[in-house]
Formats: sequence, C-alpha cells, structure tokens
Amino acid sequence: MILLTGATGYIGSHTWLALHAAGMRVAGLDDFSNSSPEVLRRLAALGADVSTFAEADVGDRAALDAVFGRWQIEAVVHFAAWKAVGDSVARPLDYYRNNVGGLIALAEAMQAHGCKTIVFSSTATVYGQPRSLPVREDAALAPSSPYAETKLIGENMLHDAERADAAWRVAVLRYFNPVGAHASGTIGEDPRGTPNNLMPFVAQVAVGKRAKLRVFGNDYDTADGTGVRDYLHVEDLAEGHVAALRHLQGGAGSLTVNLGTGHGVSVLELVRAFERASGRAIPCEIAPRRAGDVAAYYADPALAERLLGWKATRDLDAMCADSWRWQAANPDGYATV
Ligand SMILES: NC(=O)c1ccc[n+]([C@@H]2O[C@H](COP(=O)([O-])OP(=O)(O)OC[C@H]3O[C@@H](n4cnc5c(N)ncnc54)[C@H](O)[C@@H]3O)[C@@H](O)[C@H]2O)c1
Repeated sequence: MILLTGATGYIGSHTWLALHAAGMRVAGLDDFSNSSPEVLRRLAALGADVSTFAEADVGDRAALDAVFGRWQIEAVVHFAAWKAVGDSVARPLDYYRNNVGGLIALAEAMQAHGCKTIVFSSTATVYGQPRSLPVREDAALAPSSPYAETKLIGENMLHDAERADAAWRVAVLRYFNPVGAHASGTIGEDPRGTPNNLMPFVAQVAVGKRAKLRVFGNDYDTADGTGVRDYLHVEDLAEGHVAALRHLQGGAGSLTVNLGTGHGVSVLELVRAFERASGRAIPCEIAPRRAGDVAAYYADPALAERLLGWKATRDLDAMCADSWRWQAANPDGYATV
C-alpha cells in the first residue's frame, strides 16, 4: 500500500487517481488545512477506494504510528505541506514547523516502521533566479522564500538519511507550474481566497468571479514582454509520481529530477489559450512588474525522461480545456453543491 500525505490536495487527489489507475492501493492522509472532505466523495465517485483515509496532521507522530500500524505501507508519496510563497514570508515559523516538522515526523515514523521509500514534492523555486535556461537539475540552488527553503531542507534531510542508511530510496521531484484538472471536471484546483497562481485566476475571470486579470509587467525580455513559465498538466505530474514510485520500487537508486514540459508559455499566450478553451473574453490590465518575479523560467525535463521514461504529453490547450471544465462546473470549487 502507498501512503499519500496531502491526499485531498490539488496534486494529491490527482495522484490518488493515477496510482489507482496503475493498480496501486492507496492510504490517504490529510488534515484538511488546505483542502475539503468533499474531495473524498469526488474521488470515490471516480472509483477510488477512500475507506483507507486518515484525517491527521503529518506532524503528529502518534497518528502516523497508528497509520503504519493499521496498513502495510511499502512507500510514501509526500505532498502534505503549505505552499503559498507570500504567506511563508509573513509566517515563516509556521511554514518551517509544518513543512520541515511534518517531514521529520514522517521520516522518523517511516524509519521506525521499516518503510524507507519516499517520493518527495519539491519545487522549481529551489533554483531561485535562473542563470541559464532551460533549468537543469545541476543548476545553482538559491531558494528565495521561506517556502522554497523548507523544500530544500526537506531534500537535504532525506539525502542525509540515505547517506546514513543505504536502505533509503528517495525520489525528489521538482515541479514547475502544475495547472489543469482531471479530465472528468470533478476534481481540480480550489484555492482559498485570491489565487496565488495564474491559471486559477484566469479561470475565475472567465467564469465571472473576478472582473479582470492584472498582468504584472509587459516589458520583460520575452517574445511578447510578459513573464514566461513552464505550465504542466496536473495529470502528467500525477503520472510522474507513478513513474518515480515504479523506479524506486524496481530497485533503482535515488534521484532528483525536474518535472516540467520544457516549453515556456507567456502570460498572454496562456490567456489566449484560455479564451479559446472557454469561449469567454479575459479582460487584462497591464500592471507594474512585481518584485522578485523573473522574466522566464522553464525546465530541462530530459533527465526525468531518461531515468523515469516519463514525459509530459498534454499540451496547453488540454490544460486550459480541463481547467475550464472544472471551473465551469464548479464555480465555487468544492463548495459548489
Ligand atoms: N501547486 C504547485 O504549484 C506546486 C509547485 C511545486 C511544489 N508543490 C508542492 O506539491 C505539494 C502539493 O501541492 P498542492 O498544489 O497539491 O497543494 P495543496 O495545498 O492543494 O495540497 C497540500 C495538501 O496537504 C495538506 N496539508 C498541509 N499541511 C498538512 C499537515 N501538516 N498534515 C496533513 N496534511 C497537510 C493540505 O490540507 C492539502 O490538502 C506541496 O508539498 C507543494 O509544496 C506544489
């Protein structure tokens, strides 16, 4: 059985379905600090067995011992963490406690129960400002927020555990910009309050929840002047986790890989693709650049393909179409009745 922490979150819920589709049994864990129990009902409707779900804080060692005692866990996919960069700047200690403290409790519980195989959610923000593009895994690491710092600490902690005990198998996956939703339109990204990411913001403009999109900067050194990012369909990302698990469980060694498409897409390109997918106009207003934003950022995903045989297959139109299907059917996210 695979333990999925953060199982009812955006990426966790899609990964639950991908693991299920790959014939793997899943035990889910989440404290609902950034997700809704409604996700479990949606997952069940899509065929997942959600009877093996535990509501718990991943930092609660006693709760983890109960989970490891109850189910035979062979490997862990660890998503449970907070991810809002700005929030992490405002509340750094909370982020270190939740993200780093949670991973310490989890890794200790794993060690105590003889389960030493983990897929860890890291982020492309560990690279900070890229010195060259596309960004390769051996690029300099310069996390520029407490959030990114918690992820780099997590990476290093797991590598140190492995150095001390070769039985550990660690896959560090550095995601670029996950977007989109499950093709069914029943699960997707449901940000609380104002979205921090571009695609959910655009989707909320399209559905009429927000009047317009503010585009921060149109004078970058990019083709149309707006910022360029590497958007990755969440279902491709979920399948990347299945590939990483198979790699580790097949006896191959630990790895650190980027998960991205390798293609940069500008804000305006994304807006136009979303307009095509939704048939709605997305009014935009150009605003000044935001401090800390970089002009362009995209992955070199070649190592993931070489080591895992994984490659993103869904294009920008599919990302927008799936995001729109989810948003149109669920204008208030999981609160939609
Ligand atoms: N979405 C992105 O853009 C992105 C990019 C790079 C990395 N990541 C990482 O991927 C992982 C999943 O991200 P997501 O987008 O699905 O976020 P999310 O907030 O939708 O999912 C995270 C889940 O973890 C849960 N959680 C948080 N702290 C917990 C705790 N202490 N105990 C139990 N559950 C807890 C939340 O309730 C939520 O359901 C996170 O670790 C995030 O840092 C996300």
